[in-house]
Amino acid sequence: MKPEILRLQAYPFQKLAELKANSVPPAHLNAVSLSIGEPQHASPEFVLQTLRDNELRYGSYPATRGLEELREACARWLELRFSLSNVDPNRHILPLAGTREGLFSIAQCIVDSATKPLVMMPNPFYQIYEGAALLAGAEPYYLNADANNAYFADLDGVPQSKWEQCALLYVCSPGNPTGAVCSIDYFVKLIELAERYNFVIVSDECYCEIYFDQPPVGLLQACERLGNTEYSRCLVMNSLSKRSNLAGLRSGFVAGDANILESYLLYRTYHGSTLPVPVQLASAAAWSDEQHVQDNRDSYQRKFTLAKSILAPHWDIAMPDAAFFLWAATPIDDQAFTKQLFEATNVTVLPGSYLSRKTAEGNPGAGHVRMALVADEQQCTDALHRIANFMQKF
Ligand SMILES: Cc1ncc(COP(=O)(O)O)c(C=O)c1O
Repeated sequence: MKPEILRLQAYPFQKLAELKANSVPPAHLNAVSLSIGEPQHASPEFVLQTLRDNELRYGSYPATRGLEELREACARWLELRFSLSNVDPNRHILPLAGTREGLFSIAQCIVDSATKPLVMMPNPFYQIYEGAALLAGAEPYYLNADANNAYFADLDGVPQSKWEQCALLYVCSPGNPTGAVCSIDYFVKLIELAERYNFVIVSDECYCEIYFDQPPVGLLQACERLGNTEYSRCLVMNSLSKRSNLAGLRSGFVAGDANILESYLLYRTYHGSTLPVPVQLASAAAWSDEQHVQDNRDSYQRKFTLAKSILAPHWDIAMPDAAFFLWAATPIDDQAFTKQLFEATNVTVLPGSYLSRKTAEGNPGAGHVRMALVADEQQCTDALHRIANFMQKF
């Protein structure tokens, strides 16, 4: 067994199950989960129909590079969504079986830990970044993202010697769990650092379609702003899981630097995560339609408006820039809060410390909980009232 396996932490939801194991929630209240970020809105019918219409095509092995119509649909969506001018579906796009496997496997492909032993990531973070770094033989280097730096991963505190050792940096915008959106200037600064110290940026943008007013900017936009129209050293990952409520379809894509993608394609022919042909055709349909995405966004907006009005009198929580999480400071320890809330209300939230690591500057997830407003509007309203009521005891 690789010794690095022993360094992998239990997934946050396993820790949560252990925390709740001996707790008994009130029997008269139905259970509401705000812990897992799995969208509960309906999947678009036209996408499901495309799957059904193509069911005979499950018989053939799909190519790793994916169908031209899928890559074309992804490229056109990227160009429209981020005002890009140079996305070539044959060079700049590869399909992924969801961004999760892409975020993991890209590190296995590009990190040469003998020469560059660090992988940087925000803290708190999506746990795959950490596992990807460890199993690539690298050390995770945590960039704290807390209220002191507007929830952006802090770049200014990183010593030059660490930048020199950096092989790959993950950025997540809109951020999970904070909902913070990186500005174009922040992305520009990252690209300049990547050029100076020769590392790759992987921008996890899977929440970029869940926003309120302004569409979040993306890393490739910053590339074009800098005249980097070949997207050198830059990759973005996008997904249908949140945009189209298709988490189970396992469909996303990576876009950016053509040289990296050429090697990554070779890697992926061994890695073996291809998308079945009907899934690719259904995905192309989903990337080509905006109405269902707007409807989805409207529903999240209604829930956040409700959350603000229900919680504001009892809990001082800033609304996120985007995504579907509330990231709230707790009046007591985050695990104790989660357990007591569950025992009092049958509502489950996620302790922030399960999403972060302790650093010399402290643990930026501790003393917070993440609440994912993914349930339907009625359930969310119900849960929010119970939480508001619970907060009155503090
Ligand atoms: C920040 C972040 N990135 C990536 C993913 C993975 O999404 P998927 O593999 O469904 O595209 C998630 C899932 O919750 C996430 O929160």
